[in-house]
Amino acid sequence: MSIATRQPSQRRAPGPPGNFIFGNLPDLRRDPLHFYPEMCARYGDVVRFRGLGSFVWFLISHPDDIERVLKSKQYPKGMFIQNIKMLVGNGLVTSEGDFWRKQRRLAQPAFHRQRLESLATMMTGAAETLAEQWQPRVAHGQPLDVANEMMRLTLQIVGRALFSVDISGAADKVGAAVTVALDHINYRSLQPLALPERIPTPHNRRFLRARQTIDTLVDGIIAERRRSAAHGPDDRGDLLSMLLAARDEETGVGMSSEQLRDEVKTIILAGHETTAVTLPWAWYLLAHHPEIEQHLHDELAGVLGGRTPGLDDLPRLPYTRMVVDEVLRLYPPAWAVARQTMVDDHIQGYHIPAKSPVVMSQYVTHRHPEFWDKPNAFVPERFGNGAEQRPRFAYFPFGGGPRICIGNSFALMEAQLLLATLAQRYDFRLVPQHPVVPEPTVTLRPKYGIRMMLRPRQAA
Ligand code: HEM
Repeated sequence: MSIATRQPSQRRAPGPPGNFIFGNLPDLRRDPLHFYPEMCARYGDVVRFRGLGSFVWFLISHPDDIERVLKSKQYPKGMFIQNIKMLVGNGLVTSEGDFWRKQRRLAQPAFHRQRLESLATMMTGAAETLAEQWQPRVAHGQPLDVANEMMRLTLQIVGRALFSVDISGAADKVGAAVTVALDHINYRSLQPLALPERIPTPHNRRFLRARQTIDTLVDGIIAERRRSAAHGPDDRGDLLSMLLAARDEETGVGMSSEQLRDEVKTIILAGHETTAVTLPWAWYLLAHHPEIEQHLHDELAGVLGGRTPGLDDLPRLPYTRMVVDEVLRLYPPAWAVARQTMVDDHIQGYHIPAKSPVVMSQYVTHRHPEFWDKPNAFVPERFGNGAEQRPRFAYFPFGGGPRICIGNSFALMEAQLLLATLAQRYDFRLVPQHPVVPEPTVTLRPKYGIRMMLRPRQAA
C-alpha cells in the first residue's frame, strides 16, 4: 500500500509514555515497590519502560486492562516462567496451553468446597499445637519471628491437607531451603548476565543444594505413598491420590515420576509461602492499629467466646474476613504478575508490540488512588458494604482469568481460621526498633522477619 492511500486508522498507534531512554533497570532492581508506583503516578495506567533484556516492557495498572490481559489467550506467561521452572519444573504454575489445561482439570477436585470443609479442623488443630509450643518461649519473654513461625505452620498444613503427610519435622530445613531458592530465582530475574546454574559459583551451589533439599522431601512423600499403595488400594481422597490415579484419556498412561514431582513441588511451594507471608503482615498491621485489633477481638469474643473456630463460624466472622482482605490489599503476597503478548495489541489506544513483557502489579493497583480512598491506610471496613462498586480487578490478590490461583478458597479459609485461632490465644506486639521492610522477591516477604512479643490472652 502506498503512503498516499494509507488510512489514519491504520497508522501505527503511538507507544505510551514512559521514562526509558537511559534504562530503568537500576531503579527497578533497587526498589520495585517504589519504581512501579512512581511510574504509574507519573505516567498513568499504561507505561513503557526498559526492563530486562532487549524488550520494551509495559506496566498496566487500570483494572479493566488487567482484566482483559489476564483473561486473554493472547497473553501467555511466556518468558516469565523460565526462572521459576529452574525450581519447580513444569508444574501447574509454569506449564502452559493444553498441557496446563489438562493438569488443572486433574488437580481441581482436590480444591472443591466439600473437600476443603474436611480440612478446617486440621488447620485449627495445627494452630492450637503451635500456640502451645510457643508457651515456654512466651513465658521467658523471648520474642518470636512470626514470619518464620507462620512459614512452619502453613508448610505443615499444606503437607497434611493435600498430601496427607506430616512434614513438620522437616519444616525448618525446608523453609530455609525455600528462602534460598526463591532468593536465587529473584536474583536470576534481575541479573541477566548471571552465570548459568551448571557453573559452580557459590550462588549457584547454594541454590542447587536448596533445590536438592526440596526435591528430597517431595520424592520422600511420593515414595511413601507408592509403597503403601503397593499393599492395596490407597485412595486418601487428597491431591496426591488424584495425581497418582490420573490416566491420560487417549493413552491410558499415568503421569511420569518427573511430572508428578513437579506438580507436588509446585503445590507445596505455591501453597504455603503465600499464606505464610499474609499472616505476619496481619499481625504487624493489627499491632499498629489497636482500634481495629479491638474490633477483631470483639467479633471473636462475641461469636466464639474463646473456643476454636470451625468452618461454620466463618460466615459469622465477617470482620475477620475483612481484615484478611485488607491485609492482602496492602501487602499482596503475589505483588505482581506478568505476561508476554503473542501478538500486536493496543491498550488504551497505545501500541503494545508482539512479544512485549507486560507487568500488572497488585501492589500498584491495590493502592491506586482512583479506586481506593486513602489507599495506604489500613481500613478493613472498605471490604464491607459498597465494595462491589469497585471495578472487579482493582483487587486481584489471587490473579484472575483462567490462571487464577487454584488455592484461593483454601488460602482464605486458612488465613481466616488461623487468624481467629491465634488472635484468641495471644496479643502480638512489635519488638521496638525491629526494622520491618517489605521485600518484593517472588513473594512480598518481610525482609528481616517480624519480631514480636506475645502475651497470652485471658480466655473469654
Ligand atoms: C494468600 C495466599 C495466596 C495468594 C495471594 C496466591 C496468589 C496467586 C496468584 C496471584 C496466582 C496467579 C499467578 C499468575 O497469574 O501468574 C496464583 C496461582 C497459583 N496458586 Fe496461589 N496464592 C495463594 C495461595 C495458594 C494456595 C494455598 C495454593 C495451593 C494449596 C496455591 C496454588 C497455586 C497454584 C497451583 C497456582 C497456579 C494455577 C494455574 O496457573 O493454574 N496458591 N496464586
